[in-house]
Amino acid sequence: MRIDILTVVPELLTSPLNESILKRAQAKGLVEIVVHNIRDYTLDKHRQVDDYPFGGEAGMVMKPEPIFRCIESLQAERTYDEIIYTSPDGITYNQGEANRLSTLENIIILCGHYKGIDYRVREHLITREISIGDYVLTGGELAAAIIADSVIRIIPGAIGDESSALTDSFQDGLLAPPVYTRPADFRGWKVPEVLLSGNFKEIAKWQEQQAIDRTEKLRPDLL
Ligand code: ADE
Repeated sequence: MRIDILTVVPELLTSPLNESILKRAQAKGLVEIVVHNIRDYTLDKHRQVDDYPFGGEAGMVMKPEPIFRCIESLQAERTYDEIIYTSPDGITYNQGEANRLSTLENIIILCGHYKGIDYRVREHLITREISIGDYVLTGGELAAAIIADSVIRIIPGAIGDESSALTDSFQDGLLAPPVYTRPADFRGWKVPEVLLSGNFKEIAKWQEQQAIDRTEKLRPDLL
């Protein structure tokens, strides 16, 4: 899979995309992430990426030309399955969307900034607008990092223990059951007996019931 991310602040993406599991997934060749500085696609002396909005509202708007130039140069190289714009106006991101995106070959994520992007980009280039929740960030970079992270970790081979991605919260529409490690008794708080029993059938039954109970209690909307 290849993910191209367009931003005016590439530094914001450096660390989230280059540590831990995402770093290893790239080293293993499971994913290629290419970050593009939109400023590199300007043609003017001041490398201007934003301008005042028509209509006189406050704030700046990202100009269409450098974004079109960047995306069209990428499209000349390969076909993209989805061109995503991160925006609070988008569909709310969830595990189902992460699963769907992880099956695609090439995606572009355009990070919004300032007051937004010229609407013609959204009308004529963008195929999907994604919000990571009903709150407003200073820019779309953190949203893009969250999308990339959640997509890459479920690519087969990205996580050491393949089954662990499938037992995540939300993968089966339920919250994950509680997990414990040693010591079995910490300050008198004991790990549930069944987990120490070695009876894997009983353990699986307990975990499933815990997942259902926790979902009913904490996120009944998921059921
Ligand atoms: N940009 C600003 N706020 C955002 C949000 N909630 N989701 C995605 N991109 C954003």
